[in-house]
Amino acid sequence: MNTVAKLTPTKHEQDEAFFKWDSGRLGLGVEAMDAEHQKLIQLMNQLYSLAESKAPRGRVEMVLDQLASYTVKHFEAEERYMKSIGFPELITHQQIHKSLLEKFTAHAKAFKESKDPAPSSEFFTFLKIWLQAHIAGVDRKYAQHSKK
Ligand SMILES: [Fe+2]
Ligand SMILES: [Fe+2]
Repeated sequence: MNTVAKLTPTKHEQDEAFFKWDSGRLGLGVEAMDAEHQKLIQLMNQLYSLAESKAPRGRVEMVLDQLASYTVKHFEAEERYMKSIGFPELITHQQIHKSLLEKFTAHAKAFKESKDPAPSSEFFTFLKIWLQAHIAGVDRKYAQHSKK
């Protein structure tokens, strides 16, 4: 079953969207990766909406876990893609993924161990930076390489 497909945000959640897909800034022109980045944004938006609407912790944790596993899946797919096109900076990119994942895991762990109803604003800032700096900056490098 596709776990992401059923996570389509409701109208309300879309209105509250925190992370906006911007094809000019975030689109890489690598179809499969653009689609995965959009799914990541969809999950981030869902997490944000749940946090904003003070949803039960169980639901927030469920989406957080889905975002975590989708992130792992995306990084693996992206690394396979970079390998397939002979991207020379693969190792560096892998290290950046590892560090992003460690930070993500630390934020998620801190939230789960806390009694807070939702992840911290620092966590959402981290997600936003990830999108802006990683997709638009770091991921763009393999897209440029693929077009050489
Ligand atoms: Fe990516
Ligand atoms: Fe990446």
